[in-house]
Amino acid sequence: MSASVEIKSLSKVFARQETNGTLQALDNINLSVPAGEFITLLGASGCGKSTLLRIIAGLEVPTFGEALFNGEGIRGTDSKRGLVFQEHTLFNWLTVRGNIEFALKSARRHAAKKSEVDSWLELAGLSEFANNFPHQLSGGMRQRAALVRALSVSPEVLLLDEPLGALDSFTRMSLQDELMRLWQERRNTMIMVTHDIDEAIYLSQRIVVMSPRPGRIAKVLEVPMSYPRNRAADDYTALRTQILKFMDFARDEQEEYII
Ligand SMILES: Nc1ncnc2c1ncn2[C@@H]1O[C@H](COP(=O)(O)OP(=O)(O)OP(=O)(O)O)[C@@H](O)[C@H]1O
Ligand SMILES: [Mg+2]
Repeated sequence: MSASVEIKSLSKVFARQETNGTLQALDNINLSVPAGEFITLLGASGCGKSTLLRIIAGLEVPTFGEALFNGEGIRGTDSKRGLVFQEHTLFNWLTVRGNIEFALKSARRHAAKKSEVDSWLELAGLSEFANNFPHQLSGGMRQRAALVRALSVSPEVLLLDEPLGALDSFTRMSLQDELMRLWQERRNTMIMVTHDIDEAIYLSQRIVVMSPRPGRIAKVLEVPMSYPRNRAADDYTALRTQILKFMDFARDEQEEYII
């Protein structure tokens, strides 16, 4: 199962207590994500990527405009929209196994089979750490645990906020392959935030390049290559160069919107 997401004329303004002013985090965002698409939001720090994802998750409300899930206005959180936070948030009082079991039980209202939980632990490369608590793991391990916990319940839309950010490049590439495999199997809608141009090209069907202050969509690019993608191919490197140009352009265009 997967679902569509639509963002219509959406803006988000935050109050700034320090100056009694405001900060426009997002300005007139329009984006239509069809069910089953893998799309990434790419842009420099502060351009509103997490804010947009949190609005789709139902954790923030837009100041203007709206966000729709399967054509209906998003109000609050829903297990059909899974979110992996930028700061991976596992339950600290549960072990890695306990975190996965808890997610599966909450989504299905019955306990998962041990063998299923075992296979998620294996995918995360955490079988040997199943009984560890989050504070006993490395940052990368926590991130892997948070990612498989979200994947395990197979939400209709998976919102990923830099889910592989703290990983070394080898682990990162192998989890990119796992993400790809799971998406091709289940075709849930994937909306992923990343700073990493290569990751965006490797995984997504479309790349939304955002520019900061205020957060705007600078360009939406199609990635016309078939999967699995070859990171060394000419069209891959050509697209990387093109995106870099758009990101530079986006920087030149930015205005100061902090009042
Ligand atoms: N709750 C909040 N209150 C006030 N300002 C906020 C809040 N959340 C975000 N902002 C501001 O909105 C802007 C966009 O923040 P956001 O976290 O969405 O950026 P981002 O693109 O995810 O950045 P990064 O790549 O560093 O994670 C920033 O200037 C930030 O300071
Ligand atoms: Mg962010």
